[in-house]
Amino acid sequence: MPHTHHLGSFDEPMLVFGGPYGNRQALDALLATAATLGIPNGRMLCTGDLAAYAAEPQAVADRIRDASIAVVMGNVEESLGADAEDCGCGFTSGSECDVMAAQWYRYAADAVDQETKRWMRDLPRRIDLSLDGVSIAAIHGGVDQINRFVFPATPTAEKSIELDKADTDIVIGGHSGLPFTQLLGRRLWHNAGAIGLPANDGTPRVWFSLLHPHENGISIDLHALHYDHAGAAAAIRAAGLPTAYAEALETGFWPNDDIMPDADRHRRGVALTEQTLLWSPSCQAAAAAE
Ligand SMILES: [Fe+2]
Repeated sequence: MPHTHHLGSFDEPMLVFGGPYGNRQALDALLATAATLGIPNGRMLCTGDLAAYAAEPQAVADRIRDASIAVVMGNVEESLGADAEDCGCGFTSGSECDVMAAQWYRYAADAVDQETKRWMRDLPRRIDLSLDGVSIAAIHGGVDQINRFVFPATPTAEKSIELDKADTDIVIGGHSGLPFTQLLGRRLWHNAGAIGLPANDGTPRVWFSLLHPHENGISIDLHALHYDHAGAAAAIRAAGLPTAYAEALETGFWPNDDIMPDADRHRRGVALTEQTLLWSPSCQAAAAAE
């Protein structure tokens, strides 16, 4: 049964990103940005779902694997690695997302080679690390449910239960695709968002984060990423994938947000801002928009 990988202890900035979703153009932009920022591959972390809505899942997996970037297994890697019949995303059966998922999952299952699927099968379900003495667990969805959706508006009690299970100061999650950072008591939940799909905020930007030590704790900087979204959208159309996702890359709106809590759905079209949150384990958190 897959496992927890211990990535190590760090005292320099970590770059965290989620949901590449087969969007090779976005991944290339992210890797170029990391190089500009001076972040080596060994201090990058991906929260999974290398394949999904966009057209180049094999190229995305190859780039991440060749770079030896740490990856938490997502439900898509779990499904592709097991030759499962569907993506295991957790969409409601028969919903619009579920119907489109059947199309992109079949495409990904055909596009990704067997050797890569074997690599996906062995990815860790959890990656633990320490950043300047602060304990961090990176997971995909929930601690023991890979496709649990944890959104900004998911009740704090549910997040606290997950933090209890993780038994760390900070949990980094993925899967839901929306970037956010939330203080829960003296602990923290962070989602870096997705680079493969915009944040339903009406802009084509995608998101990643930098975590770095500061005087008394950790600074979490949420960054917007601009990339060749027109090229990625054209590739989706050329591949015959659901065009709703090509439109999503262009407009910044998800094709369907039924899966979200109401409070998050009501923020549709509200442009996100880059933010920094300073957190210390003792603790008060202070957020500052840049
Ligand atoms: Fe996922």
